[in-house]
This record gives sequence, C-alpha cells and structure tokens, in this order.
Amino acid sequence: MLKVAIVGATGYTGEELIRLLVDHPKVKITSLTAKIDKPQNISEIFSRLSGRIDLQCANLENVDDVAAISHLVFLALPHRVSMKFAPQFLQLGRKVIDLSADYRLKDTELYGTWYKVVHSSPDLVQKAVYGLPELYRAEIKKADLVANPGCYPTGIILGSAPLLKKGFVDVSEIIIDAKTGLSGAGRKAALDLHFSEITGNLKAYKINQHQHMPEISQELTNLAGESVKIVFVPHLVPLNRGILNTIYFKKSRKMGLKEALDLYKDFYKDEPFVRVKPSGQFPQIKEVFETNFCDIGIWTEQHSDTLIVISAIDNLGKGAAGQAVQNMNIMYNFKETAGLL
Ligand SMILES: NC(=O)c1ccc[n+]([C@@H]2O[C@H](COP(=O)([O-])OP(=O)(O)OC[C@H]3O[C@@H](n4cnc5c(N)ncnc54)[C@H](OP(=O)(O)O)[C@@H]3O)[C@@H](O)[C@H]2O)c1
Repeated sequence: MLKVAIVGATGYTGEELIRLLVDHPKVKITSLTAKIDKPQNISEIFSRLSGRIDLQCANLENVDDVAAISHLVFLALPHRVSMKFAPQFLQLGRKVIDLSADYRLKDTELYGTWYKVVHSSPDLVQKAVYGLPELYRAEIKKADLVANPGCYPTGIILGSAPLLKKGFVDVSEIIIDAKTGLSGAGRKAALDLHFSEITGNLKAYKINQHQHMPEISQELTNLAGESVKIVFVPHLVPLNRGILNTIYFKKSRKMGLKEALDLYKDFYKDEPFVRVKPSGQFPQIKEVFETNFCDIGIWTEQHSDTLIVISAIDNLGKGAAGQAVQNMNIMYNFKETAGLL
C-alpha cells in the first residue's frame, strides 16, 4: 500500500482528500497534520468521517516525523506556506503534490507580483510539473513535485484547450465569466463569506485582479503558442461547491456547432474525466457535485462570429482534491480512475 500524508488536513481540500483516500484501494493514510493546538481524532473534527478512519490529526511540528511514515505528501496548505515545506519533503526523498499556487507559475517574478512574496525555492518551480493530466500526463508520471492546478484555471483551461491548440479563435481577447461556490475560499472565517452576506446574493469580485489570472494566461499561452489575453470576471454564488465558467471566443475562421463539438469530442476521447455534452445541452454544477468530472458544453452557429464554451467542475473535486488523487494515480501507475469513479 502507498503510505500518504496530508498536511493541512483540517481544511476543505484536506477533508476532501481524506474522504477520497479512505476508500482508495491502493492507499493507506498514515499521517494527518495541520496547524492545531492539540492532537484530535480526525473523525471528531469532521464527523462525517466517523467510522471510516481512526487517526489523530496533530500539529505539524517535525517534517522528518511525517516523512518517516509516508511515501507521498499532499500539501493542502495556503499559498506562501506550502513553499516552506515542499523543499524539506523533497530533500527527504518524498514525492509531493502541492494544492497551493506556490509551484504553478513558471515566472517567479510574476508569482512575487501576484502573491506579494519572494519565492523561496525558484529552482523547484522549474522542476515542478503542472498537474493537469489532460495536458501533462507523461510529465506527471515522472514527477517528484506536482503543482496541482487552481480551481478556476482547471475548468477554463480544459474548456479552451481544443480551440487554442488548433488556432481556431482570436487570442487578443477571450472573455471569461466565472461563478464559484464559497468553499473555493477555504474554511477560515471571513466577514464577506458569512451566510447572511452571501445567501440570496450574487456578486462579481476581483475583476481582472484575481490571483488565478496569471496561471490561466500561462497555460492558455502555452496551448496557443502565442500570447493570449483574457478578461476574467469571477462571481460568488450562494452555493457550497461548484464552478461554472462561461467562456466567450471570437472565431478566427468559419465553424459550425457540429465541427466544434467533433473537435472537443475527439480531443477528449480518451479522457475519463472530461465529458462533452451533446448539441443543445450545457453543463450544470449539480451534475459534477462531489465528482472529478469536468463537463463541457458548446454553443455557436455557422454564421456567428462568437463561440461560447461552458465548463463545470466541483472546485474541491476536479478543481483540487479529486485532481490531486488523479495525479497520484498517474505518478504511481495505479488505474487513473481508482478512488474517483
Ligand atoms: N478550496 C478550494 O476549492 C481550492 C481549490 C483548489 C486549490 N485550493 C488551494 O488548496 C490550498 C488549501 O485550500 P483549502 O481551501 O483547503 O484551505 P483551508 O480550508 O483554509 O485549509 C488550509 C489548511 O492548512 C492549515 N495550515 C495553515 N497554515 C499552516 C501551517 N503553517 N502549518 C500547518 N498547517 C497549516 C490549516 O490549518 P488551520 O485551519 O488550523 O489554520 C488548514 O488545515 C490553498 O492553497 C488553496 O488555494 C483550494
């Protein structure tokens, strides 16, 4: 059995990792740590895990102790915190899947601009593999450090990849309207995330200022082979989990709906977690809830210059913990869908 440690086990993505890994046929969870005052059984912290796992969650005091009882470490930590621990685990010969943004941006100066801190291990950033299996499966297989993608970027990149790879759309301005549930912000308390602030409400935030913008641009530019400009408008919706992205493209050549759907179906034909909807059907958050699927729907007409792609994921599933488990399966040659379907 592969022995895994989860650091940041008391957060939302940590909880979701535990939920997925307790049922995984090839994995044993051997270490749970976070920033907590005194050790506590994880099923007391998350009572829905009661009867499924009996393990203490302790304060992360000593990296050596965690490494001694694990082969692979999931870092479900805030950005800026992960980069304190990833180098230590790697130094001790452990593989790491980091759910934070710390190893996603190849340009560490850009990381500094967006995350307001100087990166402390820029060498590792270059070695890290961006953990989006649909684009980087071969590299993930050989990786010691996987930078698990952000939740918004996952659905947006998957929703854009086929068109950008073919060069079928104008890359001078792609407009992305995105809507997320609240668990995307993590478990810590914040005034603007209170039930009474959010319920019955819908609002845009961080327009063209969201920290996921450089990550989205990096990957869309890689796909297109030229600089891609985006306009990104995220919204908060009164849901617990789920992200719906509506992406507006201007076509650079004539393309009808059938051709666009065939392009996407062919691009993702071997992908177990990307489902392209038939003509006239569009993704819904409830259909990807607590799954590792990314659902994609397309609208266009032959005479229209516009092509709209809608993608939906569960931010804690394909947008975080599910994708991290998929990456683990690839790294260790397990069945890619193990523990996820
Ligand atoms: N939520 C999502 O949908 C989502 C999606 C994709 C990626 N991510 C990324 O995944 C990471 C975790 O997100 P999350 O939503 O799970 O956050 P979260 O709910 O805030 O959980 C963070 C966890 O890290 C622990 N922690 C914080 N500082 C620590 C330290 N110095 N030492 C040890 N443990 C520490 C926290 O413990 P305390 O609670 O005691 O501080 C908590 O267990 C973040 O980088 C986030 O950006 C999140």
